[in-house]
Amino acid sequence: MYEVYGVIGYPAKHSLSPVIHNLGFNLLGIKGVYGTFEVRPEDLEIAIKGVRALGIKGLSVTAPHKETIMKYLDEVDKVALEIGAVNTIEKVNGALWGYNTDWIGIIKAFEENGVEITNRKVVILGAGGASKAIVYGLIKKNPRKIEVYNRTFEKALELAKKFSVEPKKWEEIDKASGEIIIQTTSVGHNIWDTPVSEEIVKRFEVAMDIVYNPLKTKFLDLAEKRGCKIIDGLQMLIYQGIEQLRIWTKLEISMEVIEKIKKEVYKAVSEK
Ligand code: ATR
Repeated sequence: MYEVYGVIGYPAKHSLSPVIHNLGFNLLGIKGVYGTFEVRPEDLEIAIKGVRALGIKGLSVTAPHKETIMKYLDEVDKVALEIGAVNTIEKVNGALWGYNTDWIGIIKAFEENGVEITNRKVVILGAGGASKAIVYGLIKKNPRKIEVYNRTFEKALELAKKFSVEPKKWEEIDKASGEIIIQTTSVGHNIWDTPVSEEIVKRFEVAMDIVYNPLKTKFLDLAEKRGCKIIDGLQMLIYQGIEQLRIWTKLEISMEVIEKIKKEVYKAVSEK
């Protein structure tokens, strides 16, 4: 029997997760198919009832459902609870379990690019769902300091109540400086725009964007021109997806499989 998996989000139709998981299942010899479920926020509760009724085996969860979906699950693991967001669901003995693999995705993306986090100052733009998981992951690597700038200051303050970060007002962004800058806002998604100017970006050694549409965002383009090492948004996406595959299949995923998935995802983006 083929088990059914998918990504749930809104919008979701351009998600690259089906590329990762269908190839992953294939390479790992798993009988699974992975689709796309575009679900409006107001339909989330009924969609989860449908997931139960249909016996769907696993889901990736994307914006805007990562936080709201938690209340419809039977169990949420400790890490996802601490982060306050779920990006992965697995059916375990008929119950729906929530996990978070985004934080592993960010750590692996930095490791893969040979970027050290320990003892370095990190500036994060944005305090949404993705930002929380990123902060959780970074703290495990002992950075010197993390500053979070957010348009809605209250959300940066909220994040600072939970984790050891310094909340910053968006209006003070011109003063931002450090070694690593991570762009987690939706600015630049599908549009040639950047939340910070060249003047700010050039103060950093490494710039990462979690937006991957376009692959080289204006933010990354400016950063590269100013001599920063850049890390595109596909890297975190791929590594959080690999962790999901591990959860669902309980298999070790070899470097060979990871490299094949990476190649396929970059190919899919270039063909868009
Ligand atoms: P995700 O799960 O991708 O993090 P999210 O939780 O909706 O998505 O968070 C989106 C982030 O982008 C937030 O930090 C948001 O800022 P607010 O908290 O003020 O809403 C930020 N964002 C979205 N549009 C923005 C804009 N035009 N300028 C600056 N920040 C923006």
